[in-house]
Amino acid sequence: MPHLQEILPKLVSSLAARSDRGSVATYIPELAKVDPTKFGIAVATLAGSVVAAGNADELFSIQSISKVFTLALALGKCGDMLWTRVGREPSGNRFNSIVQLEYEKGVPRNPFVNAGALVVTDSLLAGHEPREVIGEILRFVRFLADDDTISVNRAVAASEQSTASRNMALAHYMHSFGNLQHAPQRVLGTYVHHCAIDMNCRQLAAAGLFLAAGGRNPLTGHSVISPLRARRINALMLTCGHYDASGDFAFRVGIPSKSGVGGGILGIVPGVASVAVWSPGLDSSGNSHLGTIALEELVQAMDWSVFAPRAHA
Ligand code: DON
Repeated sequence: MPHLQEILPKLVSSLAARSDRGSVATYIPELAKVDPTKFGIAVATLAGSVVAAGNADELFSIQSISKVFTLALALGKCGDMLWTRVGREPSGNRFNSIVQLEYEKGVPRNPFVNAGALVVTDSLLAGHEPREVIGEILRFVRFLADDDTISVNRAVAASEQSTASRNMALAHYMHSFGNLQHAPQRVLGTYVHHCAIDMNCRQLAAAGLFLAAGGRNPLTGHSVISPLRARRINALMLTCGHYDASGDFAFRVGIPSKSGVGGGILGIVPGVASVAVWSPGLDSSGNSHLGTIALEELVQAMDWSVFAPRAHA
């Protein structure tokens, strides 16, 4: 196997030289302040090593990557009943689109578009206060990464809350169809806080490793979810993790991944490794521009793909 210790620093220097960096998200004002020249990458392997390069120790806002963790928690709480409230199909629309919700009677296409993630958060609120659910999500992520320093960035949460009219519209709309069981304000408040969790690439790669390892984190030895559930979450990441660019991402990169508007991407190489990359500039679909290119180059160098079985032998 080619050596990650050699590949990652080379990736960092080749990407640092590029002038096409995408644009940082501005609709959440706090994210607009992030330095677009940052770039970090970390790979956690099933064999137990974590290799990192660039700004891999710097915290960033995980945003929609948190939807992977809330989905795992919600499935643990509701089981397959969750699928009566949210679909499992790619949307072909932007992450914050409202148009499909009317045709499909308030049932979002998948748990990763904003509407779907709001339903997932709503399901976690059953029997709990928002602050309890935020605490539960945070404890889960800390447990996965084996790192109690992970926390919510209150400034980012407040910033998103102050400009969240669109997500509020999605929440109210679903509430009108009876697909939100709690007040839109409570669901949104919980959602913006889990999106505002800060992590660095090392923590994120470690936290995602259970998905590469059949539901068990080999770094910590913790059993997290069943192998079947891990496989299904990976399937959803592959088909829906990059919104309307999921097909292109599967074509170019070919591993289950989830992006966030903070510029992070979590990629899963089943049976092999978990990869976290961060570059704040986004492409027109709202996914990290250089992060996608970095993953494209990494999987080629390592011969990683869910569509090339020999890579996992
Ligand atoms: O709801 C939002 O718009 C953000 N909190 C998360 C969106 C996001 O990360 C989309 N991903 N690329």
